[in-house]
Amino acid sequence: MYQYDDYDASLVSERVEEFRDQVARRISGELTKEEFLPLRLQNGLYMQKHAYMLRVAVPYGVLSADQLRMLAHIARTYDRGYGHFTTRQNIQFNWIKLEDTPTILAELATVQMHAIQTSGNCVRNITTEQFAGVANDEVIDPRPLAELLRQWSTLNPEFAFLPRKFKIALSSSAQDRAAVRMHDVGIFLHQNAAGEKVLRVFAGGGLGRTPILSAQIREELPWQHMLSYVEAVLRVYNRYGRRDNKYKARIKILVKALGADVFAKEVEEEWAHLKDGPSTLTEVEYQRVAYFFEESRYNRGAGDEAIFQMQLAANTRFAQWVKRNTRAHKVVGYVSVTLSTKPGAAIPPGDVTAKQMEYVAEWSERFGLGEIRVAHEQNLILPDIAQADLYTLWQLACEAGLGTPNLGLLTDMIVCPGGDYCSLANARSLPIAQAIAERFEDLDFLFDLGDLSLNISGCINACGHHHMGNVGILGVDKDGEEWYQVTLGGAQGNHSALGKVIGPAFRAQEMPDVIERVVTTYCDLRVQDEAFVDTVARVGLAPFKVGIYGQPKAAA
Ligand code: HEM
Ligand code: SF4
Repeated sequence: MYQYDDYDASLVSERVEEFRDQVARRISGELTKEEFLPLRLQNGLYMQKHAYMLRVAVPYGVLSADQLRMLAHIARTYDRGYGHFTTRQNIQFNWIKLEDTPTILAELATVQMHAIQTSGNCVRNITTEQFAGVANDEVIDPRPLAELLRQWSTLNPEFAFLPRKFKIALSSSAQDRAAVRMHDVGIFLHQNAAGEKVLRVFAGGGLGRTPILSAQIREELPWQHMLSYVEAVLRVYNRYGRRDNKYKARIKILVKALGADVFAKEVEEEWAHLKDGPSTLTEVEYQRVAYFFEESRYNRGAGDEAIFQMQLAANTRFAQWVKRNTRAHKVVGYVSVTLSTKPGAAIPPGDVTAKQMEYVAEWSERFGLGEIRVAHEQNLILPDIAQADLYTLWQLACEAGLGTPNLGLLTDMIVCPGGDYCSLANARSLPIAQAIAERFEDLDFLFDLGDLSLNISGCINACGHHHMGNVGILGVDKDGEEWYQVTLGGAQGNHSALGKVIGPAFRAQEMPDVIERVVTTYCDLRVQDEAFVDTVARVGLAPFKVGIYGQPKAAA
């Protein structure tokens, strides 16, 4: 993985010392709450319902074993023994004391981690898919370009005060597993007919109160121009983005208002000044960064196929876990393993204890190449596991509560912290997730249902990606009470779609029944192995409405 150079290291340490001084001045009362607010946000420190929350960046979701151990140490020493992995591939600590934050950031800096630009109206953590660099359907490794974007955007003074936050995702696989089109800028890296690395660029996506899938603004861009082109996009946004209304400030509103064609034309005009300028990437620069991602230690071999087949045959749960939670690797004999952070009702999705983090770090070294990934679905991934080690790893993962074979199933929910922590929430989301997980405990039933994503957000900001869940749940406030609106038909991936609201909202206690009715209706309607999202696409919402709300009353 990428290693900091002296420049990166001194930049992060200087920042820590600056913040130490700011925190001291806040504690002494020299800085007011209002004066301190922008300073803390620039360092990823939020004020939530009960305590400060620190959001730590995990660039494109890649962690080393030592970094994960450090996160475990932070969780244990400064929080309540766990951390929360998020849809931005970041980690959040919910119970932080203000006076501890400079020390936490200093400790993070020792393992090349920080909280810079995890908040505020700037370019946020660059994301990609959790299998970047190892997926068997990948054309080119997107991580070097993601890293170049990170370096370019980190503390870039021109883009420190954008109209609103800005999120960029990059992917290079046949299947989009990075929700690329819900980003402000989304880039698909691929090889054109001439064998050149080119980028297909999208802009103007985002969830939140006006969910929009991004529009293509450039069909083919040679990779050398990635930074100058993104720079042009940001400049156009910086110039024309609405600063008068927070709710209309995201780039998606600008792209929608202008139309994607006009927006693209503006970008091209701006780019004409930047093209071939100083931010043009060179092969040497690319190779310098790509060097850190090269991996040639795949030498464990697949092991004995007959033994593996015997293990599969002897243990159904193991076979189910291999089927659901492992994924083909670009190197034969290896797989990528997803450790589910969603073992059932007792644990909020994405919460991982310090002990679990230490186990995962240890397994990554013992069975893999010392690397861990964070998925935007809030799970942890061991990207490089030899098939021969799977059985042992599975046993250990089960003991540690990370071996649930529910990847892609209804209980593999994406859930935001909601009203339990978040001061913006309209409703709690964690108890809803818990009640649904309790209702759908039977794994065999879930296997039979097949792929079905259920996402929950506690308010319209959509941190839980509810629009993109096959089933989405959104917390809404009605006269001070918590209600829940249901959407159906959302999807991520190559056929990304935004879910549609099915009708009036429900009370919290109704939610497990409502989801059960959704599932029963699907089971009644599906033909053979048709996936949930395909059934919704085929039959539309009407039969689901009947299944959920009952037969509409005949007109009198
Ligand atoms: C608890 C503190 C949090 C606060 C105060 C917060 C705040 C917000 C706000 C205000 C928005 C709407 C932005 C807009 O559309 O202009 C938003 C969107 C979003 N947040 Fe959060 N959020 C929090 C936690 C999280 C967590 C835990 C996750 C991941 C699980 C997350 C991921 C996202 C994503 C993916 C979006 C929307 C997608 C987009 O349009 O970019 N946030 N958040
Ligand atoms: S969706 Fe709303 S409730 Fe949930 S974390 Fe985001 S801002 Fe908070």
